[in-house]
Amino acid sequence: MSLAGRDLVHIRDFSAGEMQGLFDLAEEMMATLPAGNDLLSGRLLATAFYEPSTRTRLSFEAAMLRCGGKVVGFADPMTSSVRKGETIADTARILAGYADAIVMRHAVEGAAKVAADYVDVPVINAGDGGHQHPTQTLTDLFTIRQLRGQIHGLHIGLCGDLKFGRTVHSLLTALCDYDVRITCIAPDSLQLPEQYLPADREVQITADLEAAIGDLDVLYMTRVQKERFENPADYEAVRGVYVLDSGTLRGAKEDLIILHPLPRVDEISYEVDTDHRAAYFGQAAYGVPVRMALLAVVLGAVETSHLPAAPPEAREIRSDVRCPNEKCANFREAYTRPEMEVVSREPVILRCAYCEHEMRLK
Ligand code: NCD
Repeated sequence: MSLAGRDLVHIRDFSAGEMQGLFDLAEEMMATLPAGNDLLSGRLLATAFYEPSTRTRLSFEAAMLRCGGKVVGFADPMTSSVRKGETIADTARILAGYADAIVMRHAVEGAAKVAADYVDVPVINAGDGGHQHPTQTLTDLFTIRQLRGQIHGLHIGLCGDLKFGRTVHSLLTALCDYDVRITCIAPDSLQLPEQYLPADREVQITADLEAAIGDLDVLYMTRVQKERFENPADYEAVRGVYVLDSGTLRGAKEDLIILHPLPRVDEISYEVDTDHRAAYFGQAAYGVPVRMALLAVVLGAVETSHLPAAPPEAREIRSDVRCPNEKCANFREAYTRPEMEVVSREPVILRCAYCEHEMRLK
């Protein structure tokens, strides 16, 4: 199936095969840099950033401009009509009247899905609360592929805030399509929420980075997501829980690659930046060709060749139960239609299509 016109709201919206095609195209895009190309000349991208961003917003802008396109948008929602109480659906419909695609970052889980449900232009999720960040995952996988040749066979450690870290949630889901070993390294209070644990594969769980590091091929460090904690004392209890420094790296493989979606706070010491295994700044730079490829395909300027995706499985959806997760768009925006997938009938367990929150019906 063509990627033209498609949304990227959840990492599962693209199959592994479709991602491979995108990565091949990203390599071609890289070859056009820095001059770029004119694949998207005459096309306009709208960026709606309701939360702070440096890399994601500017790499999308850079990608659009490097492909000869143009960009409008806001980075501070307080200067837009959001301040007057405009809903996500209405803002999205206005932007769709102006631009050919929308990139949205929002603190509410499922916000990009709401936008995608209300407009016909492609919507790309640039981060929705603590839920998903699919384009960071494309960048992460592309980086691993560029540096290691392939993803299969690697042992990948995800370390830090696995509870609130949206980049980790998307990445872990995508990694399940590969033959890799996965180790989740976090203190109990920041471990991966159960709903993100893959049902069909073993994931190792530990809090001990020093013990785990020696066996890893990729170490994916993350920042403790201060802004997602409801209680500041809970954040204080875990801040600085991991600091990767040359001491920690002593037991690591020589060809380890150290990734981080950035920004870092204090979880990677500056002395690591000059270690040959540090790959996070290069990783951020790969965000541009990856997003060039993504924009080019969803805007229909290029067709990638890839294996056809498996047809979607039939799912039973209930729209009579609203999501109880206060951070979810379905909970917060009353006009949105509940979409609860029945994942079990006995007992009845429902999973929200906006935020993936699971609830058990009594
Ligand atoms: C991440 C994000 O916004 O989730 N940043 C990014 O987009 N590269 C990671 C973070 O903020 O810690």
